[in-house]
Amino acid sequence: MDQVSFTRMEDGTAADYALILREEERLKAAQFADHVLGLLKAMQGPKLGYKIDRYQHSLQSATRAERDGADEETVVAALLHDIGDTVAPDNHAELAATVLKPYLTHRTWWVIQHHGIFQGYYFWHHIGGDRNAREAYRGHPYFQDCADFCAKWDQTAFDPDYDTAPLEHFEPKVRRVLAREPWRLWKETAPAA
Ligand SMILES: [Fe+2]
Ligand SMILES: [Fe+2]
Repeated sequence: MDQVSFTRMEDGTAADYALILREEERLKAAQFADHVLGLLKAMQGPKLGYKIDRYQHSLQSATRAERDGADEETVVAALLHDIGDTVAPDNHAELAATVLKPYLTHRTWWVIQHHGIFQGYYFWHHIGGDRNAREAYRGHPYFQDCADFCAKWDQTAFDPDYDTAPLEHFEPKVRRVLAREPWRLWKETAPAA
């Protein structure tokens, strides 16, 4: 197998780093989507007191988004918005947003990044918090998108009797979104500085 010439990065050559980039791309194509889907599947099991587990919640969220006519990226965002839950339970929204950021539009990234605080509108007042914490973002161009995402597809997706589509239905969509050219959409859709 090809290997670099160096043992310290500062000694590497352009050929070494071309090799590294090729290997990284190859590994990404082979594993990245599987690892992201693995984070989703890792939420199977514990219901944490809810009527369904967080895996079913995610599938239901995506199913609801799709049935409401959301575009593919938004359906994938609904499916993956909670993938940070098992490894970053105290900042799960940021983790999911960071993992998916290079493959999303700026708007969809922002919605995932902030869905935790917007979802708080539905329950934080019951646990000693401020349900209106999201008001700090009032006036932001994506405020309503994030409010709608939570209102229609996140806070509604805890119903054990809902006709939720299986993961196989969404998997091709996930693989298409994650195979996008990194940062292209992100840069094209970022607001002017
Ligand atoms: Fe969440
Ligand atoms: Fe959620």
